[in-house]
Amino acid sequence: MEYKRNIMITGGAGFIGNHVVRLFVTKYPEYHIINLDKLTYAGNLANLKDVENAPNYTFVKADICDFDKMMELFKTYQIDGVINLAAESHVDRSIKDPFTFAHTNVMGTLTLLQAAKLSWEASATGFEGKRYYQISTDEVYGALAFDGTLFTEDTKYLPHSPYSASKASADHFVRAFHDTYGMPTIITNCSNNYGPYQFPEKLIPLFINNIRHGKPLPVYGKGENVRDWLYVVDHARAIDLVFHEGKTADTYNIGGFNEWKNIDLIKVIIKTVDRLLGYEEGHSLKLITHVTDRKGHDLRYAIDSTKLKNELGWEPSLQFEEGIEKTVRWYLDNQAWMDHITSGAYQKYYEDMYKNR
Ligand code: NAD
Ligand code: DAU
Repeated sequence: MEYKRNIMITGGAGFIGNHVVRLFVTKYPEYHIINLDKLTYAGNLANLKDVENAPNYTFVKADICDFDKMMELFKTYQIDGVINLAAESHVDRSIKDPFTFAHTNVMGTLTLLQAAKLSWEASATGFEGKRYYQISTDEVYGALAFDGTLFTEDTKYLPHSPYSASKASADHFVRAFHDTYGMPTIITNCSNNYGPYQFPEKLIPLFINNIRHGKPLPVYGKGENVRDWLYVVDHARAIDLVFHEGKTADTYNIGGFNEWKNIDLIKVIIKTVDRLLGYEEGHSLKLITHVTDRKGHDLRYAIDSTKLKNELGWEPSLQFEEGIEKTVRWYLDNQAWMDHITSGAYQKYYEDMYKNR
């Protein structure tokens, strides 16, 4: 079948990626969606069970750092749009192992950019009708003080962690490909996402699972750091909008205007889990355990997403209270998904599945 567009979404088996893939596959039956994922520890095809048999969906297990493979895929599928979510995403891991972050996030992005550039330049229509979209983070802007200021699209990049340094570097390459070669690129910088299918190394799913099992809740330092939280489906909606209507070479911030001090957020999670599990209020507060702070822990992130609202009309659809209730319920209702990960069974499954290919 001839599709209207052939879009490669990388990192589609990860947390945000599965929501983006699901949205595109179901909303645009006229598009062919190619989900390219290396299936690292963070990639999980169980996240996409509901769309895996859709006729307009193809999964490819591959590494964005593999240039020859990327060239082959651009040709085979006649890719005209890329949404790059593939990355190493966890700050704590980047502190222990910065090389992997530079490799995947910087070299992987550069590899994808170069493959897109060469393939598109060689096509009959050149860059016309093509788009390379890089999914970035608010962490590239550095950290804010407790002074009410917000990151805007004009805030200078000042990354602190190896993770944010690698994401910032990738963004610079994306801009360089536009400024040097005229490639149609676009970037968005989003705040902390929460919702279903997040790998349980991140604060919210980790804490929900630990409360359920009566395990300690490791709060870094005093728990006073602030993050701005956005429901992941609202991020996916923003990505859809920017992919279709964003201005080439532009940047848009995406955030929820929803700042929470970690310790206050943790208390909301405890309260919600306790209520849904039928415990008396305050039952799990005793699990809070203050531990050594994260090295270089950024104090505060807060995104100003006014530009996206004014120019493209995007706003979060969910209030935080509703989003966190949905999220806690989802993790409690999907304990099998969680157990599959925490037991390590899901990785064994992929090893067996791909051993002979
Ligand atoms: P995640 O860790 O849950 O998923 C990353 C996915 O990328 C996994 O499926 C993994 O297998 C895949 N991947 C990793 N290396 C790869 C490679 N070399 N080739 C192909 N696939 C590879 O991450 P996430 O939280 O879903 O984040 C997705 C993107 O959004 C990242 O670029 C991240 O920097 C960005 N982001 C995340 C947040 C957030 O709050 N989670 C906020 C803003 C931006
Ligand atoms: O801001 C966007 C970023 O949000 C994304 O770019 C990253 O990919 C994503 O992982 C997330 O980064 P954070 O470091 O903010 O998320 P994390 O869930 O790891 O931590 C949230 C806050 O909670 C942070 O201040 C550290 C703290 N924390 C985290 C963990 C895992 C704890 O206090 N204890 C914990 O065990």
